[in-house]
Amino acid sequence: MPEAPPDEEPALRVEGLDVTYGRALSALRSVSLTVPHGTVVALLGANGAGKTTLLRAVSGTLRLHRGAITAGRIRYGATELDGRDPVAAVRAGVVQVPEGRRVFAGLTVDENLRSGGLGLGRRRPDQVAEARERVFTLFPRLAERTRQAAGLLSGGEQQMLAIGRALMAAPRLLLLDEPSLGLAPQMVYRIAEVVREINAQGTAVLLVEQNAGMALSLADTAHVLEVGEVRLSGPAEELARTDAVKRLYLGETTEEGATAAEERTQTAQRAGTTEGQGAA
Ligand SMILES: Nc1ncnc2c1ncn2[C@@H]1O[C@H](COP(=O)(O)OP(=O)(O)OP(=O)(O)O)[C@@H](O)[C@H]1O
Ligand SMILES: [Mg+2]
Repeated sequence: MPEAPPDEEPALRVEGLDVTYGRALSALRSVSLTVPHGTVVALLGANGAGKTTLLRAVSGTLRLHRGAITAGRIRYGATELDGRDPVAAVRAGVVQVPEGRRVFAGLTVDENLRSGGLGLGRRRPDQVAEARERVFTLFPRLAERTRQAAGLLSGGEQQMLAIGRALMAAPRLLLLDEPSLGLAPQMVYRIAEVVREINAQGTAVLLVEQNAGMALSLADTAHVLEVGEVRLSGPAEELARTDAVKRLYLGETTEEGATAAEERTQTAQRAGTTEGQGAA
């Protein structure tokens, strides 16, 4: 069989990444991970672990938050992404759905969708129409509300719109930042289904979640970030079975009776002294 051209099945490769905010605050240290083409990779971790920072570094939006990459590299296929701008990432096929389902509240659903894919240059109307159809097939509720102001949508619908807007750029790698945050269980389930569907259509997903149960059920591999460092990595099924993940992220109480949340905080405070061995 002839060898595929290097860019045909691009993987995201993050190697030895250090990120700081301002002059002092180190947010990521020596972070390495890979998102192979067509897979779902979950990134778990407590508040402040650096999950969003990693997505910002990949999508080129770090500078907008006064963050900087001080070491390491990020490549997507043959494209170097570190230190690039968001447009370069989008052009390479990498699109981020930001935390907190930020949509343009004063614009309609349709206008929000049209804003997705800006920066890609002029696209053929049929390409835009095709992307729009894909979004409406995934999210029929949005199709019913194209002229409604986005600010009037429910939280779950706004999350759908935020994902839909990203899909308008026809990404090959979607970066999702806590899509389940603050949503009712039924909506969390719906979002999980959608992520599965998007992936089945050939888009790789880097999924940041505090809802470890949801993320691990979707992911092929997973990584646990703790205070800026990768503490555990491995196949999602294996990680779901490890005691540390069960206790800290799957809400199972410990023998001492500490709640998962309490223990997460303690773990963060003990940074550097916890489970150091990755499963992979
Ligand atoms: N714009 C910023 N300026 C300065 N420090 C920041 C900035 N954004 C994040 N940080 C700090 O970087 C660290 C990592 O934050 P980050 O937002 O990446 O964590 P997270 O894992 O996404 O947390 P959460 O679950 O709360 O969203 C934290 O200590 C945070 O306070
Ligand atoms: Mg975050």
